[in-house]
Amino acid sequence: MSVFNKLVVITLPFVPKFIVYLFAKRYIAGPSLNDAISAIKDFNQKGIMATVDILGEEIEKKEDAFSVVEEYKNVLAAIDKHQLDSNISVKPTHLGLKIDKEFCYSNIRSLVVEAQKYNNFVRIDMEDHTCTSETLHIYKRLRGEFTNVGVVIQSYLRRTIDDVNQLTELKANLRLCKGIYVEPRQIAYKDKDIVNLNFQYALEKLLTHKCYVGIATHDEKLVWHALMMIDRLKLQKDQYEFQMLLGVTEELRDFLVSAGHRLRVYVPFGKHWHAYSLRRLKENPSVASYVIKHIFFKN
Ligand code: FDA
Repeated sequence: MSVFNKLVVITLPFVPKFIVYLFAKRYIAGPSLNDAISAIKDFNQKGIMATVDILGEEIEKKEDAFSVVEEYKNVLAAIDKHQLDSNISVKPTHLGLKIDKEFCYSNIRSLVVEAQKYNNFVRIDMEDHTCTSETLHIYKRLRGEFTNVGVVIQSYLRRTIDDVNQLTELKANLRLCKGIYVEPRQIAYKDKDIVNLNFQYALEKLLTHKCYVGIATHDEKLVWHALMMIDRLKLQKDQYEFQMLLGVTEELRDFLVSAGHRLRVYVPFGKHWHAYSLRRLKENPSVASYVIKHIFFKN
């Protein structure tokens, strides 16, 4: 960790909340559902789709998971009411994975059923490696019953190609990303070039097996490779989409949209934005340097 990142991480908990909000607001729609709705409306007007994430994770009480399920149901209803082009992204630990796996499964299932009523879709985010097997297991169970559910694959994991080989058989709908958690070397590649090569290898396997892929990266080299692959495989525009995080590399996002590619922005919102931002920065301090650079050099 660089001295700069260390400093940011150590001092952030003492920074007043309103100042942290100045840092975080680029990446978070705001504390309320209305904030998310208005961000999505803006995106939709520009031809950009969205996926909504309610901030939070690792809840400890079942009642909290029930509240999260209800909140997501409100999000689905609001998307329908406002006729928005958006689905939802959920984190298994936010829905009770660390309390009870079966409980988490039934919570996610109830959201998939609710989304189905609105002809909508649920993406199951991927968390750290302690959740990977259970998350994929939940996804595979749901995929046996529903088509409106997808999961995420991280190219930094050594196991990823084996997972991809199994998921292609299910014609899975996948988001492919590099992975954001700091993982041990036994579990994850540490060399950035290998992570990128694994991303390309996984993407090629998925696309050649006709899986629908959300290509989730802001790395222009990976975007370029993906575009070459899409061209080589002669894919139609409805066979894949690009995905980016709110507030990140907007210029690259706009290039893709104006070239006619489907693009979805991940829109996080919620009252837990403060705790969430601090935890994320502590866990992966390299994100801190992006934040600081954006505040002081780009705003
Ligand atoms: P890389 O980190 O190399 O970034 C490329 C360039 O993009 C950087 O040079 C910088 O300019 C810019 N950039 C990237 N991230 C930035 C940031 N936060 N702020 C400012 N600039 C930034 N991970 C995970 O483990 N599980 C998940 O479920 C998801 N879900 C997910 C959804 C979507 C839509 C996206 C785009 C990403 C995720 N991720 C994720 C995060 C992902 O794994 C990865 O950590 C980030 O996307 C950063 O990796 P890049 O591929 O963008 O490359």
